[in-house]
Amino acid sequence: MQRITEPELMDEAEQALAYAMADFAEPNERFVGYFETEFPDLQTGSVLDLGCGPGDIVLRLATRRAGLTVHGIDGSAAMLRFASESLHESPELGGRVQFIEGLLPGATLPLPAYDAVVSNSLLHHLHDPDVFWRAVREAGAPGAAVLVMDLFRPESAAAAQAIVDQYAANEPEVLRLDFLASLCAAFEPDEIRAQLQAHGLDGFSVRTVSDRHLLITGRLPPR
Ligand SMILES: C[S@@+](CC[C@H](N)C(=O)[O-])C[C@H]1O[C@@H](n2cnc3c(N)ncnc32)[C@H](O)[C@@H]1O
Repeated sequence: MQRITEPELMDEAEQALAYAMADFAEPNERFVGYFETEFPDLQTGSVLDLGCGPGDIVLRLATRRAGLTVHGIDGSAAMLRFASESLHESPELGGRVQFIEGLLPGATLPLPAYDAVVSNSLLHHLHDPDVFWRAVREAGAPGAAVLVMDLFRPESAAAAQAIVDQYAANEPEVLRLDFLASLCAAFEPDEIRAQLQAHGLDGFSVRTVSDRHLLITGRLPPR
C-alpha cells in the first residue's frame, strides 16, 4: 500500500478530546518499559518527548524515574490543555515536568541539549520524515539516548481496517478514523532504515514489537 499522509497536528477539540480520553495505558506502559530496559543507567538528566500529545508518557516517565526532568513538546494547544490538566493532578511532578507548545520544525526548546529524546506516534504524522530526524538530532546531546515507537504501515487498506476493528472497535468514530488514517500514513521498517541512514543514524536498531508497532532505539553520534 502506498503511504497516504494525514494532517500533522491533532488540534481539533473533538479529536483531542477523543484521543485524551482513550485508554492508551497498555502501549504507553510498554513504551516506558522499553525505555527502562534499553537505558537502565539513565536515572538522572533530561528527556524530551517530541509530539507528547496529552502527556501521558511524559508523566509516566517522570513518575518512574524520580531523577529525570521530562519535557514534552506538541504543536496542538488542544492536546496540551489535557497535558496541563493531568500535570495539575500530579503536583509532586511539577518541578520536573514541563509542556511546551511548539511546531516542528523550528520550535524553541527550554534546554540546548537533552540526555534522551523519545517519541511515540509522531513520526507518521509528519509529511516530511526528515523534519523528525533533524529534530531528534538537534534536540539531543551527543550520545543521547533515543527511543521512538510508532505504527508501521500494513500491507493493504483491508489489513489496516482489520487492525482498527480489532483494537478500536468500541472507540468513538473520530478516533477510529484517526487510527485508520495513521496506519495508512505510517512508514514501513525499511523506509525508516533508509531515513536513519540519510541522517547518519544507521547504527540505530529498528524492530517490530507488535502486529502494528515498531521500535527504534540508539544513541546519537557526535554532532
Ligand atoms: C498520535 S499523537 C501522539 C501523542 C503522544 N505522543 C502519545 O503517545 O499519546 C501525535 C501528536 O503529534 C503532534 N504533532 C503532529 N505534527 C506536529 C508538528 N509538526 N509539530 C509538533 N507536534 C506535532 C500532534 O498534535 C499530536 O498531538
